[in-house]
This record gives sequence, C-alpha cells and structure tokens, in this order.
Amino acid sequence: MKIAIGSDHGGVELKAVIISHLYEKGIEVVDLGTKSSDSCDYPVYGEKVGEAVIAGQADQGIVICGTGLGISMAANKVPGIRCALCTNEFMAEMAKAHNNANVLALGARVLGEGLAMRIVDVFLQSSFEGGRHARRVEAIGQIEDKYLK
Ligand code: RB5
Repeated sequence: MKIAIGSDHGGVELKAVIISHLYEKGIEVVDLGTKSSDSCDYPVYGEKVGEAVIAGQADQGIVICGTGLGISMAANKVPGIRCALCTNEFMAEMAKAHNNANVLALGARVLGEGLAMRIVDVFLQSSFEGGRHARRVEAIGQIEDKYLK
C-alpha cells in the first residue's frame, strides 16, 4: 500500500509523526510537502495529494492542516476524490465503510497525536461495504459529472 501525504504549515509536525508511524508499519509514503513550518497555503497540498491518488501514484491519501477543514475542501475539488475529515475512530471507519473515502483529512490543532494515529490506523484498516452504499457513492460522482460538463 502506498500513501500520499500532504499538509500546510499547521499540519507539518503531525505529518512527520504520521510518516514515521506508517514507515514503522512498512507502509510506503510519498510526502508531497510542505516540508517546513513557514506559512503556506493549504489548497496547494490538498490538490497535490488528490491528484496523486487520482493519477494512481498512491492508493490513498492523508491531508492535514490546522483544523483539517480547508485542506479537505481543497482535496475534494479534485474529481474522484472523496476526502473525509475525521475527528474520531468511528468516523474513520464509517468514512471507508459507507463513503469509500480515498483521502483522510486530519486537524493538527484539533487532535492529539495518539488519537490522530489511531484514526489513521482505523482508516487504513477499514474497507468499503458496498451494497446500498455503492449507489450513494456513485451518486456523489454523478453530481461531479453534472457540474464538470
Ligand atoms: C492556517 O493558519 C490554517 O488556517 C489552516 O491550517 C487550516 O486550519 C485551514 O483550514
């Protein structure tokens, strides 16, 4: 499994912790930046991670900013991305099981490191249930198609 990860300056420290955590588990990670604590704009990194997932350069993505809000909004603008901002393990499980999320968003100023790590683990271990949820996820894609014309 390969994970694309990106953050703004607000998420750069948590990003480093998550990269080490994934590395210890033998999971390949592509760090798309930012690489410093200098102030930067979260949409750049939300888009980079979204594009990497859609291009097949990574299987799933993780995006982090201060709240997780702005970077999740940016990632969700990449057609085909279903980015879920999760603040607990239940949301992480459901984001996969019901919404087939392909990018996880975290808020570094919202979560402690321990909880963030658990959310990452649950997200990566969970899988899409399909069935009635497949129809609903497909309907999300149809909204995208409608406005992309
Ligand atoms: C940056 O200060 C902050 O606005 C950003 O990290 C994020 O929280 C935006 O949604």
